[in-house]
Amino acid sequence: MKKAIKKILLVGFILFLLIQIYQPVRNIGQAPSDGFANFYNAPQQIQNILQNSCYDCHSNNTNYPAYSYIQPARYLMEKHIKEGKEELNFNDWTNYSVRKQRNKLNGIIEQIEDDKMPLDSYTLIHKNAKLSDQQKVEMINWLSAIQKQQNDR
Ligand code: HEC
Repeated sequence: MKKAIKKILLVGFILFLLIQIYQPVRNIGQAPSDGFANFYNAPQQIQNILQNSCYDCHSNNTNYPAYSYIQPARYLMEKHIKEGKEELNFNDWTNYSVRKQRNKLNGIIEQIEDDKMPLDSYTLIHKNAKLSDQQKVEMINWLSAIQKQQNDR
């Protein structure tokens, strides 16, 4: 019985070592994360919120924490970044059509209002990325003003 447990642990450990070999390309060193913020002249405190809570998955530059070097954390993170960027990349904002910008602005406001973003699995570890009530109000006020501007375009 004891032998079997040892064997299982050993096999588990070897598998753990093997998955470390998989190291996908990192989401860093590309265009800076200011397409969206520049375009709308975002005040510093809005930029800080975006940087702290959104850019890890919705920009071309992720701020990787130490644990992200270890699998399977790395794999899950890259998956979120890939899916996140497909939906919305703040760096690419100026390449979006006016229509897409409108849709995405609606989406951003909705996600924040409904507490859907940042993802729960992310704020579990990045506690300070979770938006406070105050931050949510600031974001939504600012975004609503931008939205008006956008609808007049
Ligand atoms: C841990 C990664 C992560 C973080 C951090 C994150 N997102 Fe996302 N986001 C995703 C993923 C993955 C998707 C696509 C799948 C989904 O909707 O769950 C997504 C989708 C979205 C969408 C598209 C929804 C739609 O229907 O158009 C919006 C808008 C969005 N996020 C806004 C934000 C905002 C704003 C922040 C910061 C307050 C943020 N996200 C932070 C991972 C993230």
